[in-house]
Amino acid sequence: MSNKQPIGIFDSGIGGSSIFKEIHALLPNESCVYLADSINAPYGNKSREDILRLSIKNTEYLINTGCKIIVIACNTATTNAIDYLRANYSIPFIGIEPAIKPAALNTQTKAIGILATKGTLSSQLFHKTTDLYSERIKIIEQVGDGIVPLIEAGQLNSVELQSLLEIYLKPMLEQNIDYLVLGCTHYPYLIPMLSKMLPEHIKIIDSGRAVANQTNLVLASQDLLNTYSEIPKIEFFSNSDITVLNAILENKFNVNHLKF
Ligand code: DGL
Repeated sequence: MSNKQPIGIFDSGIGGSSIFKEIHALLPNESCVYLADSINAPYGNKSREDILRLSIKNTEYLINTGCKIIVIACNTATTNAIDYLRANYSIPFIGIEPAIKPAALNTQTKAIGILATKGTLSSQLFHKTTDLYSERIKIIEQVGDGIVPLIEAGQLNSVELQSLLEIYLKPMLEQNIDYLVLGCTHYPYLIPMLSKMLPEHIKIIDSGRAVANQTNLVLASQDLLNTYSEIPKIEFFSNSDITVLNAILENKFNVNHLKF
């Protein structure tokens, strides 16, 4: 395995680009291949078997492209498939899970909110984490039904999105949360809207920076960081329309349509 090879990143769609941005900011010397499986988005309401099958398809594509590590930039795919993937492929995997721990350890009101997909909130991995804290604090879980399709459609400022968020945040506000955990990689794109809707004392957190740090650590520990000085190659592939992906990347990267 040569350290010039790219980091492979996949998500059910464009949301994992929020993770790519963190990785690229921390590791600007690394080449990346990003797969947006938008044609199959959202993963959040699919069965565990379907999420696993799609995660295997994305993983095999990235391995065949020559990636040296795979970042599963999707909470739904991580919580449902990472154990299987790690057991069946020798390439290192980095996953993402909702940032429950920092919220649970720092909450003053003893109540935190978590917005994520049904697939994440119903996973065993998620329950294992919440079980560690649920005796000491209130954890208000909310499925973000309908949010991912609106983000995939580029409707980040829409009335529909605002109405959904109002409904989803209401029980959290009633329980006096002081942390809102974004448990889906699409949701960091909600932050501008959420910041306007939430009282100032509520902190919004996600796991993007932690995933980038972990990617760096694993690459360094396996001597896989790119030490060559050539300009890295960053490529995005989507199996659906590329307009919205291009827009959220501000047309800064090479985005291609690809059937996979
Ligand atoms: N962005 C993904 C996540 O982090 C998946 C959202 C979906 O496809 O439902 O969970």
